[in-house]
Amino acid sequence: MARLAVNVDHVANVRQARGIDIPDPVMAAMLAELAGAHGIVVHLREDRRHIQERDVELLRLVVKTKLNLEMAATREMIDIAKRIKPDVVTLVPERREELTTEGGLDVKGNVKDLEGKISQLREAGVVVSTFIDPDINQIKAAIDAGAQIVEIHTGAYAEAKDETTRKIEIDKIVKAAAFASKAGLKVSAGHGLNYRNVEPIAAIQEIEEMSIGHSIVARAIMVGMVEAVREMLRLIR
Ligand code: PXP
Repeated sequence: MARLAVNVDHVANVRQARGIDIPDPVMAAMLAELAGAHGIVVHLREDRRHIQERDVELLRLVVKTKLNLEMAATREMIDIAKRIKPDVVTLVPERREELTTEGGLDVKGNVKDLEGKISQLREAGVVVSTFIDPDINQIKAAIDAGAQIVEIHTGAYAEAKDETTRKIEIDKIVKAAAFASKAGLKVSAGHGLNYRNVEPIAAIQEIEEMSIGHSIVARAIMVGMVEAVREMLRLIR
């Protein structure tokens, strides 16, 4: 069974909407773990729109499973990651105007720059993942740059408007996962996964972990975090 890593950014979004201290993404993370989540994910953005540095520091202290820090490959973020030492760093592209991460990281166009940054993170004891589109060339570049995990972007699959497009997109994910796994990388997947579309992705054998945020937090608002995580785990199983 693939592992479930729960992204709690959107809990912080509600908190930041008021600029006070509730709801607390750290408490949400603890409840997600209590419900059986295998990992916790947060994205520390350059503009600090949801998760704050303090959240990451606190999560480092309390997360008992695995803490995955999503971040842009900037000097500032590399320094923060080297100081806080999450278990995993996932390098993502970041644009200030975007509502959420759009598209995978262009590893192929930035191998040299990423190679140096990834090696610094690895030397600090952090496992490095790159968030990429299901594209064989990006996977090859991720290997060249020294990544240990690739997280395959499932956004195009999740947003497919008809069955034909969905099939095309899932085929790309299946092929990318098989290629990456054969090449010795660990394979994760995420973005846009929800209670209706997770099962075909969970069924891909090479995908060891799924990173899911918005749909779980949205359901948690209605039924509570523990129930929302349990329902997702049931589907993955
Ligand atoms: N994986 C990555 C790299 C992401 O940037 C995000 C969004 O923060 C997710 C997974 C989770 O996406 P969603 O919130 O749509 O489940």
